[in-house]
Amino acid sequence: MSLASLNRPLRMGIVGGGSDAFIGKVHRVAAQLDGKIRLVAGALSIDPQVAVQSGKDLFLDPKRVYLNYQDMLAAEVALPADERVDFVSVVTPDDTHVPISIAFLEKGFSIFCEKPVSVTLDDAHKLRDTVRKTGRAFAIMHGYTGYPLVRHARTLVRGGKLGKIYKIIAEYPQDWILPRGDAPLHLAGWRMDPKFGKSLSMGDIGIHAAQLARFITGLDIEAVNADLQTYTPGGRRDDDGNVLIRYKGGAHGILYASQVSAGEENGLTIRIYGEKGGIEWHQEQPNSLLLKTQGAPTQILTPAQPYLDPSARISRMPTGHPEGLIEAFANLYRDFAEDVAAVQQGGTVSTDHIYPDIDDAVFGKTFVEYATRSNESSEKWLPFPAI
Ligand SMILES: NC(=O)c1ccc[n+]([C@@H]2O[C@H](COP(=O)([O-])OP(=O)(O)OC[C@H]3O[C@@H](n4cnc5c(N)ncnc54)[C@H](O)[C@@H]3O)[C@@H](O)[C@H]2O)c1
Repeated sequence: MSLASLNRPLRMGIVGGGSDAFIGKVHRVAAQLDGKIRLVAGALSIDPQVAVQSGKDLFLDPKRVYLNYQDMLAAEVALPADERVDFVSVVTPDDTHVPISIAFLEKGFSIFCEKPVSVTLDDAHKLRDTVRKTGRAFAIMHGYTGYPLVRHARTLVRGGKLGKIYKIIAEYPQDWILPRGDAPLHLAGWRMDPKFGKSLSMGDIGIHAAQLARFITGLDIEAVNADLQTYTPGGRRDDDGNVLIRYKGGAHGILYASQVSAGEENGLTIRIYGEKGGIEWHQEQPNSLLLKTQGAPTQILTPAQPYLDPSARISRMPTGHPEGLIEAFANLYRDFAEDVAAVQQGGTVSTDHIYPDIDDAVFGKTFVEYATRSNESSEKWLPFPAI
């Protein structure tokens, strides 16, 4: 059972993502990129005026522009099945993800949720129980896993091209917290509030680096040892951190995430070295994957090439036409849509899907939690639980 057999575009609802939002706009654009998903309803903002105006700007039916997610849920459930939304994207601040997702899942809707999935690890587990109980599709947005060359790297590493993995170095430096004259701290606001968890460095971006390493290598973490710090004067969440990681099977890792690395914009980078070779990928140059071999010139792999693994041949344009984050998000939505369509036809979620799911969501929250605990512990090396 697929989107083709459903034979219609999916109907998308969104919570958040109004004109006052950062990432929700990217979701709206990316989900609809291939014409197989249509946004038809939303509780687009916490601010009623913004919600209404955003709905107008998007030409949504005014009856389906809601002022809060509770009204949206009640109204959508009351609609005939062939009108109501098939799934809901939850693109609000972190503390709202679990209550909104559980409310919609319980009424039969699938969910595409932003990361981190929750503020507490207990809530992440509670949400996983609900996803399992309801059997709906659930995806968590780690957009970087949607890039073709990240998917090719995954096939190379998991397929043994690098041999036994020795070292994984994942970095995520930014500098947006540093004062910058009269430029707005566009990401500040709720992110600076400790009610969202003690660690901003790991909770906001280290989580992406940890998930990228997991996505490419498939290796489980055995133990973590973290050193997190706060450079922002008066800052109430850490804004810089280093984590040493021991992986099961013998690989060792270094993960660094920081919002105070001057001159860095969104520098997610991963380097992986094994006994036979290495790979290197930079999010700011996503259309190049470096493949390294001892004693030989480094190869630069590019998207849309026939030499890529089938899982990576997902480009919409021919070689030499740069792809970016919107396409990467769209690739995840395209995969997720197949599972939503299957569920809507009485089927089940695929077991071999490539998009990050509820287990990855629990992994991300577990990583943030254990890095935070290790930072505060005199033992330092903390065993990492099974996901
Ligand atoms: N995957 C990524 O690469 C990525 C990037 C940025 C942000 N994020 C995550 O996305 C989420 C949103 O981050 P952001 O930077 O876009 O935040 P933001 O503050 O820019 O936008 C939040 C949006 O949610 C709305 N909102 C807040 N509470 C709401 C509620 N109860 N009901 C309906 N709407 C509500 C706001 O009005 C706004 O439209 C966060 O969880 C963040 O961690 C992920």
